[in-house]
Amino acid sequence: MNRLPLSDAEFAAFAQLLRDTAGLAFDLSRREALAFCVNERMRASGCTDVGAYLALLTGPAGDAERQALLDEVTIPETHFFRNPPQIRALRKHVLPELLRQAAGTKRLRIWSAGCSTGEEPYTIAMLLRELLPVSSGWDIRIIATDISTRALGAAEAARYAERAFVMTEPLDQQRFFYLDTDRGGYVVRDEVRELVEFRHHNLVTDAPPFEAGELDLVLCRNVTIYFDRTTTKRLMQRLHGCLRDGGYLFLGHAETLWQISDDFSLVPLGDAFVYRRGEPASERRAVLPDRRTEDELRPTRADRRRGPINRRDVVDDVMADSATPSPPVRPMLAVRTAVAQGKYAEAADLAAEIVTATPLRSEAHYLHGLALGNLGRDGEALVVLRKAVYLDPEDGFAHFLLGGCLERQGEHLAAARSYRAAASTLGHRPFDAVAPELGGRSVAELSALCHELALRAEGTVRGDENVRGERHR
Ligand SMILES: C[S@@+](CC[C@H](N)C(=O)[O-])C[C@H]1O[C@@H](n2cnc3c(N)ncnc32)[C@H](O)[C@@H]1O
Repeated sequence: MNRLPLSDAEFAAFAQLLRDTAGLAFDLSRREALAFCVNERMRASGCTDVGAYLALLTGPAGDAERQALLDEVTIPETHFFRNPPQIRALRKHVLPELLRQAAGTKRLRIWSAGCSTGEEPYTIAMLLRELLPVSSGWDIRIIATDISTRALGAAEAARYAERAFVMTEPLDQQRFFYLDTDRGGYVVRDEVRELVEFRHHNLVTDAPPFEAGELDLVLCRNVTIYFDRTTTKRLMQRLHGCLRDGGYLFLGHAETLWQISDDFSLVPLGDAFVYRRGEPASERRAVLPDRRTEDELRPTRADRRRGPINRRDVVDDVMADSATPSPPVRPMLAVRTAVAQGKYAEAADLAAEIVTATPLRSEAHYLHGLALGNLGRDGEALVVLRKAVYLDPEDGFAHFLLGGCLERQGEHLAAARSYRAAASTLGHRPFDAVAPELGGRSVAELSALCHELALRAEGTVRGDENVRGERHR
């Protein structure tokens, strides 16, 4: 069957339906992707024109087909041990702390909200199994929910192909999986599976599966990137309501609560940033002496109000950080000079020094990432650039560099998101402004380039999914 395009009215009708049903926002840039999914479902359901398919979806027996369409349009990309800085924070700080705090009740409640095919909740269960023996007598529940029944089916089966392990240490793979030589794939071991319970749940329309204040930790990573701001705000209010004081919220690296919610504290843990429901500062300091609250990040926001271009030109005035010793004279200028001369190793070393002295300066992270990327050290650049965009979500140049790093690492979906974030945040700058460190391109040129790169990266993801789909048929 030839693929049918969507007319403006049809696209608007599908976009509205998906927004109402699941909070999913489809703008024009995703029109082709949506048309592809609609055509797939038309083929499967035997509809030969788009109008008939819309009637089926909205008719009295539309529930099953709406679910099938959701299974088609949701993007299940995930890995075990995804986001290494967050995994380190969980392993070293968060889980040991939660277990210490719950030593009396021996009860822990964790929610993996938008768990996709299960890699995320199983990873948490593995990290807990490292800390607790199987017969420890703890009452631990990891409730893992998703709107996609297809993803949940795969999660329950707990059988994974090699591509799920791109971020898994071989030792962890050996410890927590066994190779099924008969049926193929790696299967999660029972002591991990027994901690996780999967449920179908719609984060936008269903009541949370927890009582108020019951949760110790919620992971809602890479889910709200598909929602609009109002939907995300409402969801964050609900997650806040489920968490106990001191409970943690983990979002994806491209997600932030900036302009979404002021109810959480932002706390740096090692090289990750995570959110936490308010709690007595004294207790917090006793456990984790190095983390800062969102209040302490306010100078960065003031920076943002001044505008990124000005901030970059006025290189030294925000270096004053009364809590830390002053770095050498005009250090940021020295980094920029080294970058301009192509001395990237020197630039990386200088930027690293500034970061050590003032870890909340997004500009230093940005330049550090730029230098590392130019040295071909993409793995390190990724970590650093994620911090830059976390500290300054409006920094289009940092989003742009992050997109490039992700793409080179084969993370095409995440790359597309970063390019889109770059395009939208670059739009807040004067259009004729120039980024000398990015080849002297103007903001207008860079923004157009980001749109193209996002489309290309999304095309690669679609291509991969089609190939996988063909293999399964
Ligand atoms: C990219 S995956 C993220 C998986 C995992 N959290 C991670 O970061 O690796 C996004 C998931 O969100 C789910 N999702 C999207 N809208 C949802 C909704 N309204 N309710 C529940 N889950 C939703 C999708 O089905 C998909 O499995």
